[in-house]
Amino acid sequence: MSKTIGILTAGGDSPGLNAAIRGVGKSAIAGFDAHMLGFLDGFKGLIENRMRRLTGEELSGILTVGGTILGTSRDKPHKMSVGNKVMDLTQVVVENYERHHLDCLVCIGGGGTQKNAFRLANAGLNVITLPKTIDNDVWGTDVTFGFDTALGIATEAIDRLHSTAHSHHRIIVVEVMGHNTGWLALGAGIAGGADVILIPEIPYDVNAVAESIRRRSQRGSRFSIVAVSEGAMSIDQAKRFQDASESLAKAKASDDKGSSAAKKQARVELEKVESSRDGNTLRLSEELEELTGLESRVTILGHVQRGGTPSAADRILATQLGTACSKLIHDGQHGIMVALRGDQAVPVPLTEIVGKRKTVPTDHSWIQAARDVGVCLGDV
Ligand code: F6P
Repeated sequence: MSKTIGILTAGGDSPGLNAAIRGVGKSAIAGFDAHMLGFLDGFKGLIENRMRRLTGEELSGILTVGGTILGTSRDKPHKMSVGNKVMDLTQVVVENYERHHLDCLVCIGGGGTQKNAFRLANAGLNVITLPKTIDNDVWGTDVTFGFDTALGIATEAIDRLHSTAHSHHRIIVVEVMGHNTGWLALGAGIAGGADVILIPEIPYDVNAVAESIRRRSQRGSRFSIVAVSEGAMSIDQAKRFQDASESLAKAKASDDKGSSAAKKQARVELEKVESSRDGNTLRLSEELEELTGLESRVTILGHVQRGGTPSAADRILATQLGTACSKLIHDGQHGIMVALRGDQAVPVPLTEIVGKRKTVPTDHSWIQAARDVGVCLGDV
């Protein structure tokens, strides 16, 4: 029997989104004559009832295209800005879901999207999610699509920075995206042969970094590449961050009358620590220049890492997860994320993954491999 499927992309864009939309749509149309509706600009389009019909023709020729043909946004149904107010518009989503007689809503996104989709599942909608993000930090899946492409772009950038750093006998500090996790900086740092890799999971001591660069200089390598994750923190910042996070968790768990004031205070402190990280990369470069006597330059890779055509691996992953998603819809499953485990696409209940973030374990084999080839991780 045919089904009507709504689909949207939410959160930051990422290479492979169109490949995933195509994977779900083409296989659902061919498999059970599905009627596909694409909602525009994430959850916002679902609330404002802005969508377009996705026919086989619309889904053709998009596999290699970067970004998302549906547009995206970081809007959350339960916290929508309306004028100068913030409103919970979950009920509007429910009404639009019913208006279009959807059998299922596919939400493609990162950790935030998984949470928003879970809220909609709790409001009674049949929701299935797909994990995408260049950060690779979605819990429950081995890898997210978008990561491999961004890894390739960041690696190529580090390769190119090598020759200029070498020619000028400079330090080049290259900032890599990844939000609060270090997968991208660690992967690109290893693949690009960075001499220092700093990630949020391992707080750094600038003196240890400077010492490793000085030692390289003494051995005759008068240049160094420092790959730093945008979320990396000094030991002091990390301590403050942990204290503030613990206070917030405690305040959230408490039923005390004073807990709402405590929550507010903990959030303010957390925001303060987070904003103290702004400019970390520039400061780090200046400190290294001072401590080593070598000239230092900063390169911030930024959104270049999210743009352009997806890699072959991301096209395959997005197609694999997208087509598995349409089979699960056909089987009547929902309340799940379609994850990659080993070489299989498997359903994972949203209850198991929401609110969790997949950070880099400090005993991960990539970290050990980096140490084994002499990379400084900022801690020793
Ligand atoms: O989550 C993907 C990501 O690119 C992060 O790596 C980065 O911190 C963030 O999005 C940037 O978001 P925006 O595009 O909204 O500035």
